[in-house]
Amino acid sequence: DVTSTSYPQVTEPPVTSEEPQVTQPPVTDPPQEEKEWIYYACDGEIYLGVTETTNGGFTGPSYVNYDNVTGSMLTFTVNVPSEGNYEMTVRFANGTETARPLNIYLNGSQENYSMDFGGTGAWTSWQENKIVLPLKNGENKIKTVAVTSNGGPNVDYIKLVKTDKEAASVNTNTVIPYEPPVSANAKQMERLDRGLIS
Ligand code: GCU
Ligand code: CA
Repeated sequence: DVTSTSYPQVTEPPVTSEEPQVTQPPVTDPPQEEKEWIYYACDGEIYLGVTETTNGGFTGPSYVNYDNVTGSMLTFTVNVPSEGNYEMTVRFANGTETARPLNIYLNGSQENYSMDFGGTGAWTSWQENKIVLPLKNGENKIKTVAVTSNGGPNVDYIKLVKTDKEAASVNTNTVIPYEPPVSANAKQMERLDRGLIS
């Protein structure tokens, strides 16, 4: 018998089905078009480059300094919720007066896009460059490769926002990017028992 328990008497009227179940309006996400995703360069995969904190003004834990050689590269793994065009903003610094272009390769394709990164006046002066890229639903690899022997600019982050703008046109001079070995930093193990005589 439920009335014979020792709980204090309920003084409030019981909740009726007429009462709204939710008193607060539901939290609404901003529409997808207004969402932006930031990926710090230092979280990307670096080949021929280092993370660095020497020059101030960056916003992430550190920024990436591409080695000053052709082919130094930084690859971002990003995730987007739907296929479509995304505006990619690259925050960078270039303390020289010579542009440091990067080729941009998507998802292993040999087709590539080009971004110029002109001088920003100082390595501590950061600017943003933008390009519109066609991304697929879910995971995308965005590989950025230095085109000249000066290497790339220093990069702080990339930011992605969905857009109705047209995608950038692909480079006509297709350059095949160098594929670094799967684990560039891994040391090869030698079989020490090979040919061992005791
Ligand atoms: C300077 C600067 C580096 C930069 C380098 C370059 O050494 O401190 O952050 O990457 O120049 O010329 O690429
Ligand atoms: Ca550099």
